[in-house]
Amino acid sequence: MHNPFTLEGKTLLVTGASSGIGRAVAIECSRAGARVLITARNEERLRETLSRMEGDAHTLIAADLSGEEDHTRLIACIPALDGLVHCAGLTRTKLFPFVDRETLDEVMAVNFTAPALLSARLVREKKLRKGGSIVFISSISGSGCVWAGNAMYSASKGAINGLMKNMALDLAQKGIRVNSMNPGMVETPIVDAGVITPEQLEADKKRYPLKRYGRPEEVAYGVIYLLSGASAWMTGSALVLDGGYTLL
Ligand SMILES: NC(=O)c1ccc[n+]([C@@H]2O[C@H](COP(=O)([O-])OP(=O)(O)OC[C@H]3O[C@@H](n4cnc5c(N)ncnc54)[C@H](OP(=O)(O)O)[C@@H]3O)[C@@H](O)[C@H]2O)c1
Repeated sequence: MHNPFTLEGKTLLVTGASSGIGRAVAIECSRAGARVLITARNEERLRETLSRMEGDAHTLIAADLSGEEDHTRLIACIPALDGLVHCAGLTRTKLFPFVDRETLDEVMAVNFTAPALLSARLVREKKLRKGGSIVFISSISGSGCVWAGNAMYSASKGAINGLMKNMALDLAQKGIRVNSMNPGMVETPIVDAGVITPEQLEADKKRYPLKRYGRPEEVAYGVIYLLSGASAWMTGSALVLDGGYTLL
């Protein structure tokens, strides 16, 4: 059967695969036929992801991406890739007057610096094949959607989209495409990491025209499109996936 979205024959690296969106991306990409290397810090939760993936060609590599030592170790044990999906991320909520260097560095290290440096090294060390696709999980909060206390996270996601567009231009000559997915709120553990009460969450969901948050696999389906041959002419795009939130 003709399937332009197949990932058959592709080898991918998915970061943040121990939880939420990264876990769903790893599982759905394995179902779409890819061989997937998964990484995050927590090995036990990575094993749980691995156990839910289809096929047995996949590999788990535990690594802390906030430091470059683990980038070196990770890169040393991965083969040439057809796709790279940056899902690792964290959020820290502080009203702007209380923003401090330590927290800002923590957020930027995982949400911006790690994906930027890891991508650059993979390209330099020829671990991304011609025709390859890099996907960042950014957020609608990186392009103008604001929430109280979300300045650091928002800035890190805005930075990712700026990086993505410049990378797309610089890497086009190598035949490597670069795009981002920009979800609204998605039902994952990161949603519980803030200071929002369950009542506030329920009220917030009602603000979405489709009246709910997204599901991790719904982000994964968009990622599959960006990794597959179906999006071969798309680079430098920030795809929004938000149940209509930004319409209003
Ligand atoms: N959920 C949402 O509403 C939403 C909306 C828009 C965008 N996003 C973005 O989507 C991405 C995934 O978020 P999620 O909702 O799936 O969150 P999550 O369930 O909390 O998952 C975050 C992942 O990042 C990994 N991670 C965190 N720090 C790391 C580090 N230092 N080194 C390596 N891995 C690290 C975690 O693994 P370990 O703890 O095992 O290291 C985990 O696998 C993030 O970039 C987030 O900003 C989420």
